[in-house]
Amino acid sequence: MTSRVEVLSTSRLLLHQLCADDAEFMLELLNEETFLLNIGDRGVRTPADAAAYIVNGPVASYEQFGFGLYAVELKKSGESIGICGLLKRESLDDVDIGFAFLEKFWGQGYAYESAAATLDYGRNVLGLKRIIAITTPTNQSSIKLLEKIGLRFEKMIQMPGHHSPNKLFASDS
Ligand SMILES: CC(C)(COP(=O)(O)OP(=O)(O)OC[C@H]1O[C@@H](n2cnc3c(N)ncnc32)[C@H](O)[C@@H]1OP(=O)(O)O)[C@@H](O)C(=O)NCCC(=O)NCCS
Repeated sequence: MTSRVEVLSTSRLLLHQLCADDAEFMLELLNEETFLLNIGDRGVRTPADAAAYIVNGPVASYEQFGFGLYAVELKKSGESIGICGLLKRESLDDVDIGFAFLEKFWGQGYAYESAAATLDYGRNVLGLKRIIAITTPTNQSSIKLLEKIGLRFEKMIQMPGHHSPNKLFASDS
């Protein structure tokens, strides 16, 4: 097993950098219907695709920016249940928060617990003054969660490669 870099700890969760060991978990998450519908199809169909996605996405982001999407693990069982973290996209000036969880772990406050800790980390450890989030206008569970951690709707924006405009939420400290 590759040595893991732990980034955040909450009462029930550990957030750690994604690595090759997480390929099977990412393969499952990226192909859940709700991920495909609300976030998009990353074209990841095999464990090898998932490993390449981890290296070219999250790992490249840790190296370039010092942050990225992290695996969220349940402390009590060691299971990976989702991803949560910060992204710097070429198409946006500000850093945005992102999250996705396996459906079987929804509704237990895990997304809230990890997103609140990630926002706090972005502000107080990374020193980010402004953190945003992008969501499709119909993604009510994501919108509710963003509002619960203190982000507010600002405007609609058209992102490159998206068919229709998204909602942009923001938090300024
Ligand atoms: C968006 C997403 C992460 C939300 O996940 P979730 O599991 O519903 O989120 P949570 O469990 O943290 O919060 C949901 C509710 O559970 C409640 N809850 C249940 N048990 C809880 C507990 N033990 N402790 C705290 N809260 C609890 C929360 O209060 C919250 O309810 P509320 O919003 O009515 O107050 C999830 O729907 C998802 O992964 N979607 C697909 C990917 C996606 O769309 N990502 C966002 C792209 S922008």
